[in-house]
Amino acid sequence: MDTTPFFILLFFHLASLILGFGSVLVTDLYGMLWIRDRVRFRELVNVSGVTGKFVWVGWAGMVVTGIPLILLKGEVDDLMILKFVAVGLIGINGIPLHMLQRRLQAFQTGDEVPKVFMFRLGLSLFVSQLGWWSAILIGFLHRHVAEIIEWPPRPWLVSALVLLALLAVWGVGEAIFKTREEP
Ligand code: HEM
Repeated sequence: MDTTPFFILLFFHLASLILGFGSVLVTDLYGMLWIRDRVRFRELVNVSGVTGKFVWVGWAGMVVTGIPLILLKGEVDDLMILKFVAVGLIGINGIPLHMLQRRLQAFQTGDEVPKVFMFRLGLSLFVSQLGWWSAILIGFLHRHVAEIIEWPPRPWLVSALVLLALLAVWGVGEAIFKTREEP
């Protein structure tokens, strides 16, 4: 596994990580600064408009370099299945997140942002963090703790339960916030 091609790919894997996850962190930092009234709403919108594109490029780079890496490794253990689910979750969640971010651009300073919109944005940002941190942690464990980790025993079941829990939170949130906004 530890061959020159593997290390070259790993270098580009980590370069994509810096670009993708770095952009996620910059966006979140601006979000936090906006909540604490340290930057203007327009600044947040402008920054997230740029960083959003870099997140996609970084994520695509992770997948493009990850595939040959896993082929060279030649083994998919239980924990790697969780990583695939985390990576897929980041990608799927990126679509509503992108749409929410575009809707955010339409709001003007001082506009009242609907609660249901804030709920969707918050949930989508949480899913993004969950996916990125899970994939990073699993990558780290595989590289620095053990190459093969046959845990958890039923990775597909665990993934399905996590996805169901997220869908349940989404459903409950929609029901609560939509009813509150009805006149
Ligand atoms: C958002 C997506 C991803 C993130 C954040 C991520 C993160 C990481 C990290 C942090 C490492 C450890 C690097 C080091 O410490 O040197 C790593 C290694 C690795 N990644 Fe990824 N990765 C992602 C996607 C993928 C994909 C899609 C694949 C396969 C299709 C993959 C396959 C690998 C392999 C084979 C390694 C070497 C360690 C090992 O698993 O044995 N990664 N990744």
